[in-house]
Amino acid sequence: MLIVGASSAMAVEVARAYAEGGARLFLLGRHPERLAAIADDLRVRGARHVETAVLDLLDLDAHEPALESAFAALGALDVVLVAHGILPDQRECEANVALTLNAMDVNFRSAVALLTPLANRLESQRSGKLAVITSVAGDRGRQSNYVYGAAKGGLGIFLQGLRNRMHRSGVVVLTLKPGFVDTPMTAEMPKNPLYASARRAGRAIHRAIEGGRDVAYIPWFWRPIMCVVNNLPEAFFKRLRL
Ligand SMILES: NC(=O)c1ccc[n+]([C@@H]2O[C@H](COP(=O)([O-])OP(=O)(O)OC[C@H]3O[C@@H](n4cnc5c(N)ncnc54)[C@H](OP(=O)(O)O)[C@@H]3O)[C@@H](O)[C@H]2O)c1
Repeated sequence: MLIVGASSAMAVEVARAYAEGGARLFLLGRHPERLAAIADDLRVRGARHVETAVLDLLDLDAHEPALESAFAALGALDVVLVAHGILPDQRECEANVALTLNAMDVNFRSAVALLTPLANRLESQRSGKLAVITSVAGDRGRQSNYVYGAAKGGLGIFLQGLRNRMHRSGVVVLTLKPGFVDTPMTAEMPKNPLYASARRAGRAIHRAIEGGRDVAYIPWFWRPIMCVVNNLPEAFFKRLRL
Protein backbone atom coordinates (compact mmCIF):
# COMPACT_ATOMS: atom_id res chain seq x y z
CA MET A 1 0.00 0.00 0.00
CA LEU A 2 1.19 3.51 -0.86
CA ILE A 3 -0.10 6.43 1.23
CA VAL A 4 0.36 9.99 -0.02
CA GLY A 5 -0.01 12.64 2.69
CA ALA A 6 0.65 9.86 5.19
CA SER A 7 0.77 12.12 8.27
CA SER A 8 -2.91 13.03 7.82
CA ALA A 9 -4.85 11.97 10.93
CA MET A 10 -7.38 10.09 8.80
CA ALA A 11 -4.66 8.40 6.72
CA VAL A 12 -2.87 7.25 9.89
CA GLU A 13 -6.05 5.46 11.00
CA VAL A 14 -6.42 3.79 7.60
CA ALA A 15 -2.75 2.74 7.74
CA ARG A 16 -3.30 1.26 11.21
CA ALA A 17 -6.20 -0.85 9.93
CA TYR A 18 -3.99 -2.19 7.13
CA ALA A 19 -1.01 -2.68 9.48
CA GLU A 20 -3.18 -4.88 11.72
CA GLY A 21 -3.72 -7.09 8.65
CA GLY A 22 0.05 -7.40 8.11
CA ALA A 23 0.29 -5.02 5.14
CA ARG A 24 3.49 -3.71 3.52
CA LEU A 25 3.37 0.08 3.39
CA PHE A 26 5.19 2.97 1.74
CA LEU A 27 4.50 6.39 3.31
CA LEU A 28 4.99 9.74 1.57
CA GLY A 29 4.79 13.01 3.50
CA ARG A 30 6.52 16.29 4.20
CA HIS A 31 8.10 15.68 7.61
CA PRO A 32 10.63 12.83 8.01
CA GLU A 33 10.38 12.75 11.81
CA ARG A 34 6.56 12.47 11.73
CA LEU A 35 6.78 9.74 9.10
CA ALA A 36 9.35 7.84 11.20
CA ALA A 37 7.06 7.93 14.26
CA ILE A 38 4.06 6.74 12.21
CA ALA A 39 6.18 3.95 10.67
CA ASP A 40 7.27 2.76 14.15
CA ASP A 41 3.64 2.71 15.30
CA LEU A 42 2.59 0.70 12.23
CA ARG A 43 5.37 -1.86 12.75
CA VAL A 44 4.24 -2.39 16.36
CA ARG A 45 0.68 -2.91 15.09
CA GLY A 46 1.71 -5.70 12.75
CA ALA A 47 2.84 -4.14 9.45
CA ARG A 48 5.17 -6.55 7.68
CA HIS A 49 7.26 -3.79 6.11
CA VAL A 50 7.16 0.03 6.28
CA GLU A 51 9.27 2.50 4.30
CA THR A 52 9.00 6.27 4.18
CA ALA A 53 10.11 9.04 1.83
CA VAL A 54 9.78 12.81 1.94
CA LEU A 55 7.50 14.50 -0.59
CA ASP A 56 6.07 17.99 -0.64
CA LEU A 57 3.21 17.60 -3.13
CA LEU A 58 3.73 21.18 -4.35
CA ASP A 59 7.13 20.10 -5.72
CA LEU A 60 5.78 18.57 -8.93
CA ASP A 61 9.24 17.53 -10.18
CA ALA A 62 9.62 15.32 -7.10
CA HIS A 63 6.47 13.27 -7.85
CA GLU A 64 7.96 10.85 -10.37
CA PRO A 65 11.07 9.96 -8.28
CA ALA A 66 8.80 9.45 -5.24
CA LEU A 67 6.55 7.07 -7.19
CA GLU A 68 9.62 5.30 -8.56
CA SER A 69 10.90 4.61 -5.03
CA ALA A 70 7.47 3.37 -3.89
CA PHE A 71 7.19 0.90 -6.79
CA ALA A 72 10.85 -0.14 -6.31
CA ALA A 73 10.19 -0.85 -2.63
CA LEU A 74 6.87 -2.69 -2.96
CA GLY A 75 6.72 -3.98 -6.53
CA ALA A 76 3.10 -3.91 -7.72
CA LEU A 77 0.75 -1.76 -5.61
CA ASP A 78 -2.55 -3.18 -4.36
CA VAL A 79 -3.85 0.02 -2.75
CA VAL A 80 -2.98 3.72 -3.03
CA LEU A 81 -4.52 6.30 -0.69
CA VAL A 82 -4.13 9.98 -1.58
CA ALA A 83 -4.92 11.97 1.56
CA HIS A 84 -3.09 15.31 1.48
CA GLY A 85 -5.02 18.57 1.61
CA ILE A 86 -5.36 21.97 3.24
CA LEU A 87 -8.44 23.87 4.40
CA PRO A 88 -7.85 27.57 3.70
CA ASP A 89 -9.70 30.38 5.46
CA GLN A 90 -12.49 31.27 3.02
CA ARG A 91 -12.68 34.97 4.03
CA GLU A 92 -8.91 35.38 3.68
CA CYS A 93 -9.05 33.74 0.24
CA GLU A 94 -11.69 36.25 -0.88
CA ALA A 95 -9.15 39.04 -0.27
CA ASN A 96 -6.04 37.20 -1.40
CA VAL A 97 -5.68 35.62 -4.84
CA ALA A 98 -2.35 33.99 -3.94
CA LEU A 99 -3.96 32.16 -0.99
CA THR A 100 -6.83 31.01 -3.20
CA LEU A 101 -4.49 29.69 -5.86
CA ASN A 102 -2.31 27.97 -3.26
CA ALA A 103 -5.39 26.08 -2.02
CA MET A 104 -6.13 25.09 -5.63
CA ASP A 105 -2.50 24.01 -6.11
CA VAL A 106 -2.43 21.76 -3.03
CA ASN A 107 -5.97 20.35 -3.18
CA PHE A 108 -6.43 20.02 -6.95
CA ARG A 109 -3.37 20.64 -9.12
CA SER A 110 -0.87 18.58 -7.11
CA ALA A 111 -3.35 15.69 -6.81
CA VAL A 112 -4.01 15.67 -10.56
CA ALA A 113 -0.25 15.86 -11.26
CA LEU A 114 0.38 12.82 -9.06
CA LEU A 115 -2.65 10.81 -10.15
CA THR A 116 -1.77 11.07 -13.85
CA PRO A 117 1.44 8.97 -13.79
CA LEU A 118 0.10 6.87 -10.92
CA ALA A 119 -2.98 5.87 -12.91
CA ASN A 120 -0.79 4.97 -15.91
CA ARG A 121 1.33 2.68 -13.71
CA LEU A 122 -1.73 0.93 -12.23
CA GLU A 123 -3.24 0.63 -15.70
CA SER A 124 -0.07 -1.16 -16.87
CA GLN A 125 -0.13 -3.57 -13.94
CA ARG A 126 -3.91 -4.10 -14.66
CA SER A 127 -4.84 -4.16 -10.98
CA GLY A 128 -5.00 -1.99 -7.90
CA LYS A 129 -7.27 0.33 -5.96
CA LEU A 130 -6.78 4.07 -6.14
CA ALA A 131 -8.56 5.81 -3.25
CA VAL A 132 -8.58 9.60 -3.09
CA ILE A 133 -9.97 11.81 -0.33
CA THR A 134 -12.09 14.68 -1.66
CA SER A 135 -14.88 16.15 0.53
CA VAL A 136 -18.63 16.66 0.83
CA ALA A 137 -17.65 20.32 0.33
CA GLY A 138 -17.03 19.43 -3.32
CA ASP A 139 -20.67 18.43 -3.87
CA ARG A 140 -22.12 21.93 -3.78
CA GLY A 141 -20.53 25.39 -3.48
CA ARG A 142 -21.34 27.23 -0.26
CA GLN A 143 -20.34 30.75 0.83
CA SER A 144 -18.40 29.44 3.85
CA ASN A 145 -15.89 27.29 1.91
CA TYR A 146 -16.32 27.46 -1.86
CA VAL A 147 -12.60 27.83 -2.62
CA TYR A 148 -11.84 24.53 -0.89
CA GLY A 149 -15.08 23.06 -2.28
CA ALA A 150 -14.20 24.03 -5.86
CA ALA A 151 -10.81 22.30 -5.64
CA LYS A 152 -12.32 19.14 -4.13
CA GLY A 153 -15.26 19.19 -6.57
CA GLY A 154 -12.87 19.52 -9.52
CA LEU A 155 -10.86 16.60 -8.18
CA GLY A 156 -14.09 14.60 -7.89
CA ILE A 157 -14.86 15.16 -11.59
CA PHE A 158 -11.30 14.18 -12.51
CA LEU A 159 -11.72 10.94 -10.52
CA GLN A 160 -15.07 10.23 -12.14
CA GLY A 161 -13.50 10.36 -15.60
CA LEU A 162 -10.48 8.38 -14.45
CA ARG A 163 -12.78 5.67 -13.01
CA ASN A 164 -14.58 5.44 -16.34
CA ARG A 165 -11.23 5.11 -18.17
CA MET A 166 -9.69 2.61 -15.73
CA HIS A 167 -12.70 0.30 -15.52
CA ARG A 168 -11.55 -1.81 -18.48
CA SER A 169 -8.12 -2.39 -16.96
CA GLY A 170 -9.52 -3.68 -13.65
CA VAL A 171 -8.26 -0.72 -11.61
CA VAL A 172 -10.75 0.55 -9.01
CA VAL A 173 -10.94 4.32 -8.51
CA LEU A 174 -12.60 5.28 -5.21
CA THR A 175 -13.78 8.81 -4.39
CA LEU A 176 -13.92 9.31 -0.62
CA LYS A 177 -16.14 12.14 0.60
CA PRO A 178 -15.73 12.81 4.31
CA GLY A 179 -18.01 15.22 6.13
CA PHE A 180 -16.76 16.87 9.36
CA VAL A 181 -13.88 14.91 10.88
CA ASP A 182 -12.05 15.86 14.07
CA THR A 183 -8.43 16.15 12.85
CA PRO A 184 -5.70 18.85 13.01
CA MET A 185 -7.33 20.38 9.90
CA THR A 186 -10.49 21.22 11.85
CA ALA A 187 -8.83 21.78 15.25
CA GLU A 188 -9.83 25.45 15.41
CA MET A 189 -13.43 24.90 14.31
CA PRO A 190 -16.34 24.66 16.78
CA LYS A 191 -17.54 21.06 16.94
CA ASN A 192 -21.11 19.80 16.40
CA PRO A 193 -22.77 16.36 16.65
CA LEU A 194 -22.03 15.60 12.98
CA TYR A 195 -18.29 15.42 13.67
CA ALA A 196 -16.72 11.95 13.40
CA SER A 197 -13.43 10.97 15.05
CA ALA A 198 -10.41 10.35 12.82
CA ARG A 199 -10.56 6.72 13.93
CA ARG A 200 -14.19 6.29 12.86
CA ALA A 201 -13.46 7.97 9.52
CA GLY A 202 -10.30 5.91 8.99
CA ARG A 203 -12.10 2.63 9.68
CA ALA A 204 -14.92 3.63 7.30
CA ILE A 205 -12.34 4.44 4.60
CA HIS A 206 -10.67 1.05 5.14
CA ARG A 207 -14.05 -0.70 4.71
CA ALA A 208 -14.84 1.32 1.57
CA ILE A 209 -11.50 0.40 -0.01
CA GLU A 210 -11.82 -3.27 0.88
CA GLY A 211 -15.43 -3.30 -0.34
CA GLY A 212 -14.39 -2.14 -3.81
CA ARG A 213 -16.67 0.91 -3.70
CA ASP A 214 -16.70 3.69 -6.33
CA VAL A 215 -17.90 6.59 -4.17
CA ALA A 216 -18.14 6.52 -0.38
CA TYR A 217 -19.45 9.16 2.01
CA ILE A 218 -17.54 9.08 5.31
CA PRO A 219 -19.35 8.31 7.59
CA TRP A 220 -22.27 6.85 5.61
CA PHE A 221 -24.88 9.35 6.94
CA TRP A 222 -23.45 12.13 4.74
CA ARG A 223 -24.95 10.42 1.68
CA PRO A 224 -28.60 11.20 2.63
CA ILE A 225 -27.59 14.62 3.96
CA MET A 226 -25.86 15.53 0.69
CA CYS A 227 -28.74 14.06 -1.32
CA VAL A 228 -30.98 16.68 0.28
CA VAL A 229 -28.40 19.48 -0.03
CA ASN A 230 -27.68 18.66 -3.69
CA ASN A 231 -31.37 18.70 -4.61
CA LEU A 232 -32.34 22.05 -3.09
CA PRO A 233 -33.30 24.45 -5.90
CA GLU A 234 -30.60 27.07 -6.57
CA ALA A 235 -33.11 29.93 -6.19
CA PHE A 236 -33.67 28.76 -2.58
CA PHE A 237 -30.10 27.60 -1.87
CA LYS A 238 -28.51 30.98 -2.73
CA ARG A 239 -30.53 32.62 0.05
CA LEU A 240 -29.20 30.31 2.78
CA ARG A 241 -26.31 31.24 5.04
CA LEU A 242 -24.29 28.04 4.75
N1 LIG B 1 -11.07 16.92 8.60
C1 LIG B 1 -12.16 17.10 7.88
O1 LIG B 1 -13.22 17.52 8.40
C2 LIG B 1 -12.16 16.77 6.41
C3 LIG B 1 -13.39 16.74 5.74
C4 LIG B 1 -13.42 16.42 4.38
C5 LIG B 1 -12.23 16.13 3.73
N2 LIG B 1 -11.04 16.18 4.39
C6 LIG B 1 -9.85 15.85 3.63
O2 LIG B 1 -9.26 14.72 4.25
C7 LIG B 1 -7.86 14.66 3.90
C8 LIG B 1 -7.06 14.37 5.15
O3 LIG B 1 -7.14 15.48 6.04
P1 LIG B 1 -7.23 15.34 7.62
O4 LIG B 1 -8.57 15.73 8.03
O5 LIG B 1 -6.69 14.01 8.01
O6 LIG B 1 -6.30 16.52 8.10
P2 LIG B 1 -4.74 16.60 8.49
O7 LIG B 1 -4.44 15.64 9.61
O8 LIG B 1 -4.47 18.05 8.70
O9 LIG B 1 -4.00 16.07 7.18
C9 LIG B 1 -3.68 16.87 6.08
C10 LIG B 1 -2.46 16.27 5.46
O10 LIG B 1 -2.13 16.94 4.25
C11 LIG B 1 -0.72 17.07 4.22
N3 LIG B 1 -0.29 18.13 3.32
C12 LIG B 1 -0.77 19.38 3.22
N4 LIG B 1 -0.08 20.05 2.28
C13 LIG B 1 0.83 19.20 1.78
C14 LIG B 1 1.85 19.29 0.79
N5 LIG B 1 2.07 20.43 0.10
N6 LIG B 1 2.62 18.20 0.54
C15 LIG B 1 2.44 17.06 1.24
N7 LIG B 1 1.50 16.91 2.18
C16 LIG B 1 0.71 17.97 2.44
C17 LIG B 1 -0.34 17.37 5.65
O11 LIG B 1 1.02 17.15 5.84
P3 LIG B 1 1.84 17.80 7.09
O12 LIG B 1 1.60 16.84 8.23
O13 LIG B 1 3.22 17.81 6.59
O14 LIG B 1 1.27 19.17 7.32
C18 LIG B 1 -1.23 16.35 6.37
O15 LIG B 1 -0.62 15.09 6.36
C19 LIG B 1 -7.55 15.99 3.22
O16 LIG B 1 -7.56 15.80 1.82
C20 LIG B 1 -8.72 16.86 3.61
O17 LIG B 1 -8.94 17.90 2.67
C21 LIG B 1 -10.98 16.49 5.72
